[in-house]
Amino acid sequence: MIGYLTNEQFLPELKAELKNIRATYGGLVLTDGPLQTSVWAQNIWLNPEIISFESVSQAGKALKERGKLWAVYSTDQHRRAQLIQDQLLKVKPRVMNFLGPLPDMPIGAWTLIDKNTLIASSETNSLFPLGEVRFNEDKKNPPSRAYLKLWELFTVYGIKPKPGERVVDFGSCPGGWTWVLQQVGCHVVSIDRAPLEPHIAALPRVEFKKTNAFNVKPEDIGAIDWFFSDIICYPEKLLELVQTWQSSGLCRNFVCTIKFQGKTDFETLRKFQDLPNSHVQHLYHNKHEVTVWIRTSSP
Ligand SMILES: C[S@@+](CC[C@H](N)C(=O)[O-])C[C@H]1O[C@@H](n2cnc3c(N)ncnc32)[C@H](O)[C@@H]1O
Repeated sequence: MIGYLTNEQFLPELKAELKNIRATYGGLVLTDGPLQTSVWAQNIWLNPEIISFESVSQAGKALKERGKLWAVYSTDQHRRAQLIQDQLLKVKPRVMNFLGPLPDMPIGAWTLIDKNTLIASSETNSLFPLGEVRFNEDKKNPPSRAYLKLWELFTVYGIKPKPGERVVDFGSCPGGWTWVLQQVGCHVVSIDRAPLEPHIAALPRVEFKKTNAFNVKPEDIGAIDWFFSDIICYPEKLLELVQTWQSSGLCRNFVCTIKFQGKTDFETLRKFQDLPNSHVQHLYHNKHEVTVWIRTSSP
């Protein structure tokens, strides 16, 4: 049995991608059989057990026997869940610095499914409680909160360009991604139909082009190390853009946000997943969108 936890907003997406569903509790979906690839899970519970107990102290003891640190996923019976959690070692908030070290202690996850039954998984796929990645945010410099998506990708997944690399940032206004890319030492060709915030446009190594991204030909930009896109557009338009750049041979690393308007476009999402070397994940900082990265050169 494996458990897949998501923000309940994305439960329909999670359930659509999983096979062999056994039960659902809030945003937690339990499946039979081996681990499945999941785009929409925020936290995967790798060894969940269903545990019956009589008292709060018995529940606490059962959890302590199985692991040191625990995060509680509380959907119902919040007070009882909290009383059990209070029996356990207090978890310090794991607030990350951009590119800072990851937590070094694993953390389990558990939930109460009725008064006398809990589900506990001492192993999960994330070092963050319930997969919630929190940062010491920069409230001063970035002009939008979109920068947190790149902070998460660079810090938690280790997918990031090197200083001195040349990158393009499509759909860059007001400039959160351009700011992050500039901060890590890249030369940024920043493209949007709308202007960048002046303090971002004025940064060194930022070259802004005010134009429609879909009219830009790869030859107009030349060889780049990374293609970034946070453009608001239909997923199939983004796929075309990525494929145009892939076939130009002028870029081998891609990071894009696939944004859904209204219904989730599972068909195009699948096409992105089928691209060689692609990885698609709903990041903690993604809204109704997912992040795809494609790396075809060695890091
Ligand atoms: C979500 S915002 C990007 C936020 C940005 N990544 C940041 O960190 O501040 C999406 C952007 O896509 C731009 N956009 C939409 N269609 C575009 C197009 N055809 N060409 C260029 N930019 C486009 C919009 O102008 C908007 O600024």
